[in-house]
Formats: sequence, structure tokens, C-alpha cells
Amino acid sequence: MYKAVCPGSFDPVTNGHLSIFRRAAPLFDEVTVLVTGNPNKKSGLFSVEERVELIREVTADITNLRVDSWSGLLVDYTTAHGVQALVKGLRSSLDFDYEQPMAQVNRRLTGVETLFLMTDEQYGYVSSSLCKEVVRFGGDVSGLVPATVHEAMKAKYAG
Ligand code: PNS
Repeated sequence: MYKAVCPGSFDPVTNGHLSIFRRAAPLFDEVTVLVTGNPNKKSGLFSVEERVELIREVTADITNLRVDSWSGLLVDYTTAHGVQALVKGLRSSLDFDYEQPMAQVNRRLTGVETLFLMTDEQYGYVSSSLCKEVVRFGGDVSGLVPATVHEAMKAKYAG
């Protein structure tokens, strides 16, 4: 059984992330979207549990996709679950520079490979942080995040 993990902070999940999940799903028997703490980022807009729940809601139709969370080293999760590959999206050379050392250190630690899918061009500029900034100041991000996520973001900032 070929298993992949799509790891990330997903605070919150965007249509760019979703596009990567949907493209990864047919390439593997099972894909796990893993909400993983990033020690370099301060605490987020959504709790890990809320992020997991939002991703579950918007991926419910993808039959071989599961959602999980993890607070330790990513490679400990992949080893424990027999995962062969990490799958991530690449928007630009900025992402490449950010992702390269992570892919290399993960491979050095356990041999797990990282596969990159080029982001669909319509999502090339979409990021969770940009969407948060827009919604925070009352802007409209429909089309960039799923409607459920948009509503949840607006509720967070309204509260
Ligand atoms: O969406 P992000 O924040 O860019 O994702 C980064 C993430 C969560 C994948 C990365 O920080 C991570 O793998 N964190 C888990 C801790 C870990 O394994 N770090 C060392 C190798 S990268």
C-alpha cells in the first residue's frame, strides 16, 4: 500500500492546499493531510483541532484521504505509519528555497522522500497568511478558500 502525507500548518486550509490534496489523492492508495505544528510560527488563528475539522469538512468527498494531527517530528509520524512520501505544493522559487532544506533533512533522518507538485497557476499567489490579512481587514477571499473556511475566518475575526 502506497501512502503519502501532505503536511502543513493549514491555518487555515486554502483552495491552493485543497488542489494539491485532490491531485495527490489519485497518485497513492492513501493520502493523509497532517496538521503539524510549525515551531517557527506563533500560535495561529485556529486551534489544531479546528484546522483538522475544517479540512475534514472540505475533503469529505475524497475517499482515500484522511486527516490527522501531529506535534512531533514529521518523520516519526511517517515511520510509525509506513508512509513512503511527503507531498507538497510549490508556488515559486521562494517555496523551493523554504522547502529544500526540510526535504533534505527529512530524507537524511529516515529516507522518506518529498514529492513536489507545481501549484495550479490560479493559486500561485494564495497563502493562508495573505487570506488571513485580507479577511482581518474586511476583504473578500471567496474563491481563494472554501466557503466554510471563509465563514469560519469571518467568525473568528468578528469574535
Ligand atoms: O505549512 P508550513 O508551516 O509551511 O509547514 C511546515 C511544516 C509543519 C511541514 C514543518 O514545520 C514540519 O514538518 N514541522 C514538524 C517538525 C519537524 O519535523 N521539523 C523538522 C523537519 S522539517
